[in-house]
Amino acid sequence: MDIRFDKVEVRFEGRTVIHPLTVTLTERRIGIIGLNGSGKTTFARMINGLVKPSAGRVTVNGFDTVSAENDARQQSGFIFQNPQNQIILPILREDIALGLKSRKLPKANVAAAVNAVLDRFEIGHLADRRAHELSGGELQLAALASVLVTEPKILVMDEPTNQLDLRNRNLVERTIQTLPEDVIVISHDLDLITGFDRVLMFREGRIEADGAPGEVIGRYRALNGAEA
Ligand SMILES: Nc1ncnc2c1ncn2[C@@H]1O[C@H](COP(=O)(O)OP(=O)(O)OP(=O)(O)O)[C@@H](O)[C@H]1O
Ligand SMILES: [Mg+2]
Repeated sequence: MDIRFDKVEVRFEGRTVIHPLTVTLTERRIGIIGLNGSGKTTFARMINGLVKPSAGRVTVNGFDTVSAENDARQQSGFIFQNPQNQIILPILREDIALGLKSRKLPKANVAAAVNAVLDRFEIGHLADRRAHELSGGELQLAALASVLVTEPKILVMDEPTNQLDLRNRNLVERTIQTLPEDVIVISHDLDLITGFDRVLMFREGRIEADGAPGEVIGRYRALNGAEA
């Protein structure tokens, strides 16, 4: 991946949420940590243009998220912090297929791709259920499936293990480890990102630490009162 934030600032209703920052992201696996409200989701949402910078510019694989919005958006898939916002169609199988619509594939190919991703997350039994009836964790897995079926080059996940039981958390961890896509993962589940290439720690709208996971996570624990 090649994501560049150049003197980027975000203000919401006059309040500065991201202070001017310049950073380039090129590693395969990047973790983002930080306290609630520190700016992680706002930062990540700029990668697919859901949040536009109030100042500065963001480019994703060379595409500006404002002037080349559609191209920039196609570089990445985003798993929302709240998977309820991810699933649009009532029936899961149809929702997952929706992501492939723009490709104009033959029906049989769409069905095969949908079944493959359902198998991958062991959620075939949920395929014909109504999304609004699923549990939080089931919905989280469904959201992952609906994004991965589109094979984005970069996958941005906002707290992907938040609502998962231990078994499904481990399934998601293994999935992330084997993904061919580059990933950016926001997580309060620090074990999930310990093996990553780089970790950013946000604090009050600034990148407070940036480097190897051991070092940055250690700093985070120390700052927030945990035993090292
Ligand atoms: N659309 C918005 N309008 C106004 N303020 C917002 C908006 N989105 C986020 N904020 C504010 O920006 C700050 C950063 O929020 P953000 O969601 O980026 O935090 P976060 O680090 O992802 O937190 P968490 O760990 O709780 O998910 C918070 O103070 C939040 O209230
Ligand atoms: Mg968040």
